[in-house]
Amino acid sequence: MKKVVIIGASSGIGKALALRYINEGHKVGITGRRKHLLEELQLQFPQQVFIEAFDVAGTENIFHLKHLIDQLGGMDLFVYCSGTGEASKTLNLEIDQQTTLINVNGFVETTVYAFNYFVQQGHGQIVGISSIAAYRGNSWAPAYGASKAYMSNYLEALSIKASRMKIPVTVTDVQPGFVQTEMAKGNKLFWIAPLDKAVKQIFNAIEKKKRKVQVTKRWALIAWVLTWLPYSIYKKLN
Ligand SMILES: NC(=O)c1ccc[n+]([C@@H]2O[C@H](COP(=O)([O-])OP(=O)(O)OC[C@H]3O[C@@H](n4cnc5c(N)ncnc54)[C@H](OP(=O)(O)O)[C@@H]3O)[C@@H](O)[C@H]2O)c1
Repeated sequence: MKKVVIIGASSGIGKALALRYINEGHKVGITGRRKHLLEELQLQFPQQVFIEAFDVAGTENIFHLKHLIDQLGGMDLFVYCSGTGEASKTLNLEIDQQTTLINVNGFVETTVYAFNYFVQQGHGQIVGISSIAAYRGNSWAPAYGASKAYMSNYLEALSIKASRMKIPVTVTDVQPGFVQTEMAKGNKLFWIAPLDKAVKQIFNAIEKKKRKVQVTKRWALIAWVLTWLPYSIYKKLN
């Protein structure tokens, strides 16, 4: 039985992934600001679900993460899923700062703690839910794309660091395209994946300890195009 921590599991991808691990018989520690949603899941599975309600944009991330690990009695798998994706069409500082606090600060604080925890323990698995948005600058949501680029780049660095240290800590960068959740808003979305399909692919990638995965699989094509598309053409499309 694994002890799984998912930061940002009160709804969407994080909640569906938590349910998958619960159904597989594992213990899961879930977080989010909406405590009532965390409590709902805990009421359903009181033996398997542990909760910690906090805002990752705050200053007490490590305190809360430690408390959750104590409740679980350890940690084998750490997933960072909290995220916000507000558009900043007129370049709004408040939106961009809040995006950076949640998608970058919250991520780096908790992930550094989890990585060092796994180094001490001698094993563990780190997963970050990044995005296809990591590949290029996005004029509609500059901080969102940049925050996901930070995540993906950081996760690659941790993977190399773990292999240099010769410790069995694996790192998976999950890059979803569009997935049917509260976050997927707007009328320009395409290839929107049903939540269960996306989470099945995410679960499989984690269990196979993949280094990086696009979800759903067809988004690998978009990732490839975004990697090689010249700026002059990308500028016209974005
Ligand atoms: N849906 C997509 O199309 C898509 C595509 C690419 C990447 N992603 C990524 O997938 C991840 C999950 O998003 P989702 O689609 O499942 O949307 P979602 O249902 O809105 O889930 C977002 C999660 O992040 C948590 N969160 C947001 N702000 C937080 C804060 N300040 N403190 C703590 N937790 C916070 C939310 O919990 P509370 O609100 O309870 O705090 C919730 O559990 C995000 O990182 C997102 O960038 C999604």
